[in-house]
Amino acid sequence: MIYLDHNASTAVAPEAIEEMVDALQSGWANPSSTHDPGQRARRMLADARHRVASFLGCQPAELIFTSGATEANHMAVLGALARARNPAPAPGAVGGRTPGLLGLATRLRAEGVPVDLIPVDAQGRLDLAAARTLIDADVALVSVMGANNETGVLMPLVELAGIAHAAGALMHVDANPADRQDRLPVCSLRRRSGQRVGPQAAWPKGVGALIVRKGIALPALLAGRQERRRRGGTENTPGIAGFAAACERAARTLSADLEQVSRLRLRLEEGLRHGLPGLHLYGEQAARLSNTCCVRFGELDSELVLGRLERAGVVASSGAACSAGATQPSHVLLAMGETDTQARAGVRLSLGRDTTEADVQRVIDIAVRHIGPLLAAAARTERTGAPAPQRLAAWPCPRWRPAPGCRSPSKREAVGGMRWTATH
Ligand SMILES: Cc1ncc(COP(=O)(O)O)c(C=O)c1O
Repeated sequence: MIYLDHNASTAVAPEAIEEMVDALQSGWANPSSTHDPGQRARRMLADARHRVASFLGCQPAELIFTSGATEANHMAVLGALARARNPAPAPGAVGGRTPGLLGLATRLRAEGVPVDLIPVDAQGRLDLAAARTLIDADVALVSVMGANNETGVLMPLVELAGIAHAAGALMHVDANPADRQDRLPVCSLRRRSGQRVGPQAAWPKGVGALIVRKGIALPALLAGRQERRRRGGTENTPGIAGFAAACERAARTLSADLEQVSRLRLRLEEGLRHGLPGLHLYGEQAARLSNTCCVRFGELDSELVLGRLERAGVVASSGAACSAGATQPSHVLLAMGETDTQARAGVRLSLGRDTTEADVQRVIDIAVRHIGPLLAAAARTERTGAPAPQRLAAWPCPRWRPAPGCRSPSKREAVGGMRWTATH
């Protein structure tokens, strides 16, 4: 199986696993306890905090460990708004469209907080002219992703931070997909700059951090004495130890990893484009994450394409992992001006440190062999008006025969198992 869904999750680094096991065995006590075992856990935590801070380029005291990016985003946005709320609800601006942040924006709007969405152009690039108009002295917070997690298009963090800070607003970056990396569940809240951070980091899910710059006091979301009273709840010492080990590994291997992943992604895009007329590459003219390739195969539904790829041994996803499984068209692609059908067709192929040249060649071959005929059939359909493949994919499909023993296929299996091209 070739795994091309590293933007959703990437394998945990062996160094991180080793440190986590060690922390589980010898640092299991509560770091707030004053006895010996508790103090041992406390030292582990302090050590990990220094290592993560040194990698991310912040002070250890500026780092608040969280359960991941969702919590860090909520802490940043709700904390900044609470800080600015007096006397009136403070408006915010959101750019980049992560589902979690959009959900939060919707909730805040329902509570009467004015929230503007900064538009993007057809390439998925943030519209800085619109940002300049939207962000004025009434705006308390500008929140943006480091890069879009579906298309990989990088956000203009430095320019946006300049606009935000000139207007007196705070700037928050969801750096989960940050510059040139595939998984970094860290958010930062900075006054002066929107720094980009980027390892091909591989720590376990369930741990992340928020960087709150010195001098900015945010009210805590969860009350408690931990994390200097900024985030209550017993710290996840093993997860944090794994986080630190993964950061150290990333610091050692980052430039070589990025160079290789970037080269392989270009090779993949070139091979797909060459072998599959009708391929559309999102954000082609924009600066993108080194590992992310977001495409649509003509207007073939992504479920159909992903089913075919998975049956042939390649796993990828349609859109953000946080919204996978949802049947709605991608809101990211809709925001880029795609039609409903096109926005259901986006497939994200995200490479990782372990992706090889042979993997890439195999993915190209598989796509040409399995998706090529569907594209050709769709093109014939255009000319003759016959039903399009994705419409025939509905279950139960008269042309589809389940394999013996396969009585209740999932929607994707049914779609992937369709024999439409074989019979045409
Ligand atoms: C941009 C972005 N922010 C936040 C999240 C949620 O991260 P977590 O699962 O660490 O809460 C994701 C999911 O991968 C994401 O892509």
